[in-house]
Amino acid sequence: MGERSAAERDRSDRRRREDGAERAGSELVVVANRLPVTRAPRARPNQPDEWDLSPGGLVSALTPVLQKRVSTWVGWPGAGPAPRRLESQGIQLRPVSLTRAQVEGYYAGFSNHTIWPLYHDAVRPPRYHRPWWRCYVDVNRCFAEAAIAEAAPGAVVWVHDYHLQLVPRMIRERRPDLRVGFFLHIPFPPQELFAQIPWRRQILEGLLGADVVGFQTVVGARNFAVLSRRYAGAEGERDVLTLHGHRCRTGAFPISIDFEKFADLAASPEIERMAAATRVRLGGPRRVLLGVDRLDYTKGIDVRLLVFEELLRERRLDPRECVLVQVAVPSREEVPDYQALRHEVERLVGSINGEFGEVGRSPVHYLHRSLAMPELVALYRAADVMLVTPVRDGMNLVAKEYVASRVDGRGVLVLSELAGAAHELRHAMQVNPYDVEGLKDALVRAVEMPDDEQERRMTALRRVVERRNVHVWARSFLAGLEG
Ligand code: G6P
Repeated sequence: MGERSAAERDRSDRRRREDGAERAGSELVVVANRLPVTRAPRARPNQPDEWDLSPGGLVSALTPVLQKRVSTWVGWPGAGPAPRRLESQGIQLRPVSLTRAQVEGYYAGFSNHTIWPLYHDAVRPPRYHRPWWRCYVDVNRCFAEAAIAEAAPGAVVWVHDYHLQLVPRMIRERRPDLRVGFFLHIPFPPQELFAQIPWRRQILEGLLGADVVGFQTVVGARNFAVLSRRYAGAEGERDVLTLHGHRCRTGAFPISIDFEKFADLAASPEIERMAAATRVRLGGPRRVLLGVDRLDYTKGIDVRLLVFEELLRERRLDPRECVLVQVAVPSREEVPDYQALRHEVERLVGSINGEFGEVGRSPVHYLHRSLAMPELVALYRAADVMLVTPVRDGMNLVAKEYVASRVDGRGVLVLSELAGAAHELRHAMQVNPYDVEGLKDALVRAVEMPDDEQERRMTALRRVVERRNVHVWARSFLAGLEG
């Protein structure tokens, strides 16, 4: 055997190092249905895809944590081919590509037709379809395997949301050395609803595979404990459950926003100018009311429009003094319930403007699109009254974003009691989103609220959101998991 050349030796050393790095894996693995990137439009047809970091709340919460350690985010890159690995702003991404059938069964089907409506008080009838369930199991396994392949010995794996409830147990069975956390971003329902699921035991066992299962509210954590004892045979008190000798801690970890990011932007002269210009473009009304929601049937957009319409008809609000801006961010457009909601919302907007508008003046300004952060913050600053009236919501970060953006200490937040945010934002004007007359009274009160009351409430709200910001949320969950 001859001597190896220096170049060959270098090459094989580098390979060994890279293999080692790959085997050594990540100290922190985040697993979520979506990767935090979107495919950017290509400049030329034959160029490779480029990926932009999406600006969502979870990304800004986790970016600092992810950048501090060797870490990877495992998730679905959306439809279309994706490379085996991606990197964006120093974050390693591991795409889990899904076939069209998998997307239909696991995402549109079981996640969005079964779990989403059921966990939101069954505001639409959940559908139980066996092939969707089988697909959900298979896809959960794909995510679990990808996470296992990325995780270094003893690593922390943090699994997110209702698409991936089986992943914690699947990971634990193969890699008992890992610390596994699970956080549910949406509500966790009471026994009366959860009991419907034909696969309720499997879902609970899936979650109980985690070391920590976090919920938005104490109610969610309590529901989980009751159900785990009843249907999975778990033992223990409210915040520590044991199943087959494995201890799982549960608790409330209310998610939040990057307070400073919103407050700093809102205070900039550019945003102030944009906010003032927006009011002028709206015709200089005395009061601007605002709704910003994903176009989802849980958000109560239709009831809100109905309430506004009745108030105009009864002349309790004057269309020359009050305008409503409703931003509806397109969402899950392939699901028929979402298509029906869009038609209803657009019909209501048309009917209100047809009845109460004039040439050159509309009481409702409706945008069906997502907004860039500066536009959004300018709208928050332009709005005297923010309407957050979901019929059920895990948290609702729009409420917190509005509060953070009100650097002037003014503005009124009308907030549904049935949003997780209502547990913390006690100084908002809280409403029952099903009580149409109550909503109407609240809206009139909000429009008429004197400045000193606005300031008192807003100061208290801002203190809460500033203190419990998203960095505190991420740190406290991870501390619970690692401690
Ligand atoms: C909710 C869920 C998220 C989800 C988001 C957008 O906030 O908790 O997990 O990503 O809606 O929905 P989509 O189906 O478009 O991911």
